[in-house]
Amino acid sequence: MMENKVKTIGILTSGGDAPGMNAAIRAVVRTALHAGIKVKGILRGYQGLLEEDIIDMDARSVSDIIQRGGTILYTARCPEFVHAEVQDKGAGICKKHGIDGLVVIGGDGSFKGAAALAKRGVNAVGIPGTIDLDIACTDYTIGFDTAVNTAMATIDKVRDTSTSHERCSIIEVMGRLAGHIALWCGIANGAEDILTVERYDYDEQRIINSIIERRKIGKRHYIIINAEGVGDSNGMAKRIEAATGMETRATIIGYAQRGGSPTAMDRVYASTYGTKAVDLLIAGASKRVVAHRNGQFVDFDIQEALAMDKDLDQYMYDMSIRLSR
Ligand code: ADP
Ligand code: F6P
Repeated sequence: MMENKVKTIGILTSGGDAPGMNAAIRAVVRTALHAGIKVKGILRGYQGLLEEDIIDMDARSVSDIIQRGGTILYTARCPEFVHAEVQDKGAGICKKHGIDGLVVIGGDGSFKGAAALAKRGVNAVGIPGTIDLDIACTDYTIGFDTAVNTAMATIDKVRDTSTSHERCSIIEVMGRLAGHIALWCGIANGAEDILTVERYDYDEQRIINSIIERRKIGKRHYIIINAEGVGDSNGMAKRIEAATGMETRATIIGYAQRGGSPTAMDRVYASTYGTKAVDLLIAGASKRVVAHRNGQFVDFDIQEALAMDKDLDQYMYDMSIRLSR
């Protein structure tokens, strides 16, 4: 057993919240306390760090949160944290509060902040937390499963009314520039078309031809899942209706996808990521990000993780086209 050098672990959530973040916070707090390490919660991400909004946490601080969406630590975007002098200040505040290990739950931007603090002597480990699934080093990010299930349930409802009215529906899902939520919903909801930044060629005439053709083969509705990064769902709906004569409506699901009680998958991944992050800090690691890859829980150097690329699964994408007729 290695000597436990870490005395106090700080934990923060940063960037967009994601269902399951609370389960990860709970795991970090309980694992650390179990190892005799103190835990401090930093409120509102790097913004709260700079404002020294820091609270002591005990086992009861994380009671009754595993099933709740959002983050009990709140979250924020803190644009000035990109500046070296602001990062110096952040590292100084960690030291002032005795925080010698830091767990950052968030996306790539948040990991850059963690790497900057690690460079300044605060051992830091990142946990992938974003509904977008757009962190390249990992096959799973906290929140994705809940977000997809929330969107899927909404799309099922829109589908019912689209069929009754024999309409085309363009349903926009989140994901920033990544199309993972769109692809998964497209498959789970049996959509006729899936538009993502990664694959869409912006050939609207192809969609129009496809709608006309599907009507001929007896399709009553036409469901298009549109990724947030492609956007323009309202404009697209007007143009498609004008060109096809098929009534077309746009639905933008929005922030509902970011909330709600996390699925079992999100709770279990989050719990494991949280535990592993503390295990890494106890083992003396820094500048790491935990991940799930090829069926195993692993970890990577943050810079290496940030340099990796991720694309949509081509087999799944091709399949979605074959299944849409
Ligand atoms: P996400 O973590 O989900 O990718 P953002 O990209 O908005 O979300 O980043 C979250 C926060 O991480 C930012 O508001 C900022 O405080 C911090 N951050 C982002 N980029 C950097 C960077 N290059 N250096 C240091 N901190 C950063
Ligand atoms: O990263 C999660 C996410 O919900 C993206 O899907 C979306 O583009 C973005 O955050 C919205 O961010 P904000 O909460 O700042 O509007």
